[in-house]
Amino acid sequence: MILILQLLLALSLSLRADGYNHYTVKDCITSSSDLSDLEYINTYYFNKDPYIQFNSTVGEFVGFTEFGVNNAERWNKGPEVQQERAELERYCKHNLPIYYSTILDKAVKPKIRLTSEKQASQGHPALLMCSAYGFYPPAIDVYWLRDGEKVTSDVVSTEEMADGNWYYQIHSHLEYTPTSGEKISCVVEHASSKKPIIVDWGGSFPDSDRDKIFIGASGFVLGIILSTAGFLYYKKKSPGQIRESSADIDPSGVLMSD
Ligand SMILES: *[C@@H]1O[C@H](CO)[C@@H](O)[C@H](O)[C@H]1NC(C)=O
Repeated sequence: MILILQLLLALSLSLRADGYNHYTVKDCITSSSDLSDLEYINTYYFNKDPYIQFNSTVGEFVGFTEFGVNNAERWNKGPEVQQERAELERYCKHNLPIYYSTILDKAVKPKIRLTSEKQASQGHPALLMCSAYGFYPPAIDVYWLRDGEKVTSDVVSTEEMADGNWYYQIHSHLEYTPTSGEKISCVVEHASSKKPIIVDWGGSFPDSDRDKIFIGASGFVLGIILSTAGFLYYKKKSPGQIRESSADIDPSGVLMSD
């Protein structure tokens, strides 16, 4: 996975919805954390239209419109270009390690649960849900594979939802008609993991549910054995004897109020 980290700084002179918008976007682009291929780009926009750009690899301003070309010519002779050439060191190299350590390294892996929401029945497809819980940052990709192929239809996903504690959750539903021998998987891509996290659908129950059913069933059987043993022991100790209940509470008792 190539990581492109871009820092955008919008210096807006007018932010009114019905006004004009002049801003610059500063990108610090790198594909590795040692910043060896770092590039600094500063683009000036007026109402979405870029008209002049400084690119640290080029080393000077380039204009995209007549106005931009005129200004690029002027700025490339003046102090403006000197200042921009220092920005790779001053702005990108200084800030990127801070962003790495305060944002990127804080990534928390999602816990993933694959559940069956609805079994398939005559004419109705089954519904699977893939949920990712407790991840940070919110940017995430959740998608489905059917025999290794990405599923493009019958998928509905929620947005990333904030839990209110810096963690997020997301849910993706897949409607499908099961055919025997096919493999369905949920794939999650997130900053916390360099490789995509793949969870395979294991038939009717995912592993965790199967474990819970096993534990529950074992407890149920053990309960029956113990209560049967207890009952037999009780029958043996008191043959034919029926205990009287000794509830001798005075029915006219008056409760004290608090
Ligand atoms: C910056 O300029 C270099 C050299 O022309 C080019 O390879 C690179 O794609 C440019 N970067 C951007 C973001 O336009």
